[in-house]
Amino acid sequence: MPLNTFIENAWFVAGRSSEFPANQLKGLQIAGKPVLVWRTGEGKIASFDNRCCHKRMPLSEGTILPDGVLECAYHGFCYDSSGQCVRIPSQLDLQIPSRAKLRPFPVVEQDGLVWVWPGNPAQIGDAVPPRTPELASPDWATHMFDPVHVPANYVLLIENLMDITHFYPLHDGNIGDIEQSKIPIEQVEEKLHGVQTVKTIRRVQGYKQPPFMAEWFGYPVVDRWHTHHMMGPGLTRVELRCAPPGKLGNAPEERGYVIHHSHTPIDGTNHTWRLWVSTRSEKLTEAIAATFPVVMDEDRWALERQQKMFAYPDDGYHEVYLRADKALLRCRKILEEMERAGRAGAAAASAQKVA
Ligand code: FES
Ligand SMILES: [Fe+2]
Repeated sequence: MPLNTFIENAWFVAGRSSEFPANQLKGLQIAGKPVLVWRTGEGKIASFDNRCCHKRMPLSEGTILPDGVLECAYHGFCYDSSGQCVRIPSQLDLQIPSRAKLRPFPVVEQDGLVWVWPGNPAQIGDAVPPRTPELASPDWATHMFDPVHVPANYVLLIENLMDITHFYPLHDGNIGDIEQSKIPIEQVEEKLHGVQTVKTIRRVQGYKQPPFMAEWFGYPVVDRWHTHHMMGPGLTRVELRCAPPGKLGNAPEERGYVIHHSHTPIDGTNHTWRLWVSTRSEKLTEAIAATFPVVMDEDRWALERQQKMFAYPDDGYHEVYLRADKALLRCRKILEEMERAGRAGAAAASAQKVA
């Protein structure tokens, strides 16, 4: 399977809301597209093709003028927040050409995140960005790490997240726990927010927690519920709940965490990884977060090396699949189908144009 492609027709995280202050321009590359994100003086988020319609100058290099328009840094085309060119300094005496406007990308700001749809707006259908309520809720303490650039296809991160059998040996010495690889895996597939999702559930009773978890939650032996959920091409949600045996679901004793991972393709062999940890207690969130920089480095280390091996032709090479690979193989399949559907949609659109 060539791992150098990506889906365009999906919602991807462009960044945390706080990464986009008012009257500032940010240029990103999402799914191979040059994306401009602009929060206006009124606080509205807009997103456009980052190329000035005149001579392709990146508009993220431009300036917001006192009257709120975006001025291109090259010849000074000025755009309003709907992407319409409203002024061309070198020919103020002439009408503005009707094609002088920017191509918008659909953009949604919710739960403290900005999501962009880099593909064809006509293919959104009923897809909406998944909710991440803990990030915006005052009842949860969240620690979000700075975004990490991973020189690997984003699907490799999704597969890594859906497969916890790599905790030993890759994360040996911190979150490495070989025992959890033995917990039976239930798999649930459902369509949520207009997208096919895959979730693994590991339920276990009377489980002897590894030392780091016993320390985080204060229970050496627990009943535990642990899920990994690919909520779409852009987001994976991990949830763990534990309590002393027989007490799961009993609010005062139940402890746990929610970890979100957003994976935004930059191009076929690079992506941006954001990770945030949420728990009900600031102390617990910080204790869990303290282990993550090393864990993220280890994953990044592995993904980078894995990606390099995709440069070789298969030439008789085949991957071996294990019991624990079932979920990630479904994820792969779903993503491949979405990619294929996107290509078919693009081909149909260009055939229509020719006709
Ligand atoms: S490239 Fe933007 S005004 Fe010329
Ligand atoms: Fe990992």
